[in-house]
Amino acid sequence: MSFKLTAPLLRRLEKAARAAAKASYSPYSKFRVGSAVLTGSGKIYSGANIENASFGLANCAERTAIFCAASHGERKLRCVVVYTPTPLPTMPCGACRQVINEFGPHAAVISICDSGERLETTLDRLQPVAFGPKNLKG
Ligand code: THU
Repeated sequence: MSFKLTAPLLRRLEKAARAAAKASYSPYSKFRVGSAVLTGSGKIYSGANIENASFGLANCAERTAIFCAASHGERKLRCVVVYTPTPLPTMPCGACRQVINEFGPHAAVISICDSGERLETTLDRLQPVAFGPKNLKG
């Protein structure tokens, strides 16, 4: 990683992920998730999981946050934080790992919850040998 994820910056990201979970729309699973991402420009974007009566259309919190960042022109992810109000931390699902890879193949991925437990890793450890933009080049 070529940037410093300082303790105050990490605290801001964690706070944003916790706050985002409050807006979770999860009437079917009742599983609230909030996410906050740090982009190449140094900005933080956040999002929650948004479910649908057609269950398969649920959008995970990570993807909501990443699509929000991308919609603001951001093209690089430095860090993705996931928060769930659970005793165990939640890691991004396979679909979200693929979406993180698009903009942050080396991004830090940090999962926090309501116990002291946390997981800290990187996208390339979660999704080694990923399919990505480079594979579509001739
Ligand atoms: N979910 C997320 O938002 N992020 C994850 O990393 C795992 C799962 C959501 C999708 C669905 O709304 C609910 O959690 C239960 O799977």
